[in-house]
Amino acid sequence: MLAIAILAAGRGTRMKSSLPKVLHALGGRSLLERTLESCDLVNPLRRLIIVGYQAPLVQNSLDHLADLEFVEQKEQLGTGHAVMQLLPHLEGFEGDLLVLNGDVPLLRTETIKNLLHTHQSNQNAATLLSAQLPDPTGYGRVFCAGNNIVTEIIEHRDCTTAQRQNHRINAGIYCFNWPKLAQTLPQLKANNDQNEYYLTDVVSMLEPVMAVDVLDYLEISGINDRLQLSNAYDILQNRIKENWMKAGVTLINPDSITIEDTVQLEPDVVIEPQTHLRGQTLIKSGCHIGPDSLIENSHIEENVSIRYSVISDSYVCSNSKIGPYAHLRGQAKIGHACRVGNFVEIKKSTIGDKTNVAHLSYIGDAELGNQVNVGAGTITANYDGVAKHKTIIGAGSKTGANSVLVAPITIGENVTVAAGSTITSNVPDDALVIARERQRIIADWSSKKNST
Ligand code: UD1
Ligand code: CA
Repeated sequence: MLAIAILAAGRGTRMKSSLPKVLHALGGRSLLERTLESCDLVNPLRRLIIVGYQAPLVQNSLDHLADLEFVEQKEQLGTGHAVMQLLPHLEGFEGDLLVLNGDVPLLRTETIKNLLHTHQSNQNAATLLSAQLPDPTGYGRVFCAGNNIVTEIIEHRDCTTAQRQNHRINAGIYCFNWPKLAQTLPQLKANNDQNEYYLTDVVSMLEPVMAVDVLDYLEISGINDRLQLSNAYDILQNRIKENWMKAGVTLINPDSITIEDTVQLEPDVVIEPQTHLRGQTLIKSGCHIGPDSLIENSHIEENVSIRYSVISDSYVCSNSKIGPYAHLRGQAKIGHACRVGNFVEIKKSTIGDKTNVAHLSYIGDAELGNQVNVGAGTITANYDGVAKHKTIIGAGSKTGANSVLVAPITIGENVTVAAGSTITSNVPDDALVIARERQRIIADWSSKKNST
């Protein structure tokens, strides 16, 4: 039986922010959400979040997750005090309690599993994650008898100069036998430099307590300030990009590329510099993305090329060429083998197969059939100042340069719209439509003008 508790009540003074530290975002999700996610696969029976500073805000940020219990720590008197708040909530609970600081977002699930395994197979009173850090400044130091039986944890600020030479640090992730911890918590005292109740003080009151070193110390990096937040972002990015390169994705100049961990890529995708992939994005095999593109929450099928473009909440079918300088948004759906861009915006529209919108157009709330050719500068005038209206263009139709299609409007199949036309009513199949002043030539106009 396992419950988890995440300490998220602190303000995070060192962030120098009005936002609680645990709500700062790291690659699209908050530190707290990431910490929670790292425990998903160990299937905890209960998940308790200790909140305090701006509690409602922290609680609301997790609205989309089910079965969380929030426990309020009204005054933030230290990590030990935070865990004491669980006493009434876990009364009678006989299992283990996994405690995590809410500011350790890079933790891997395997590391937690390993911690739990050591805890359970040794029947420890407590087991904690430790690491040997090149620079342990700021962390609590773990002192052991022998290799891994913990005798004491001393916070950096409470250490003597000699004790600071110990580079084995406490990661802030613990597994406790709850009944034993529950007996010990009331004995904590706040006799330290910060006058706080330290959770770490329980280790000298419990037996046995074991430390497990993490192999990759980067994953237990605690985030206390903006510099550490930015370092954590780099660590996360390196992890993600390394994984994709190992899985067959080419990244050209990876340092200039960012990929969120929600993105899915297939082998033989090539990503060029200054490209950013976010949210629920899927890019299939053979695509060539970038340079300089932003793609979020979009689905890109095989062999698509996208250059210098921004695509959000959209779908692109195979073999299409997007950009340079295209903006697809709001559920735009581009068919197979289309050409979209330069300087084209497509919003909430469906574009048929082999249709081209190749230069300087706005297509909004429209439905274009297959093999339509949208001439340079064609605009769908979809907004009358109050509501948005729909434009339909049938298969095989062509619009001339600088056409304006005033919606709601239906242009049939195989229609030709003459250049410079403003079309305000429906056009039947196979027609030519011209809606502009006929050209007039006034001969010798300039000499007549000068003689008057
Ligand atoms: C803590 C550990 C330290 C360890 C480090 C690892 C203690 C006393 N020290 O120090 O040994 O090396 O983490 O990162 O535990 N919080 C509350 N209520 C409080 C105080 C804090 O919920 O009253 C929460 C914070 O929101 C945060 C977490 O506990 O998520 C850790 O607090 P923080 O102040 O960052 O502890 P550290 O000084 O980093
Ligand atoms: Ca911390």
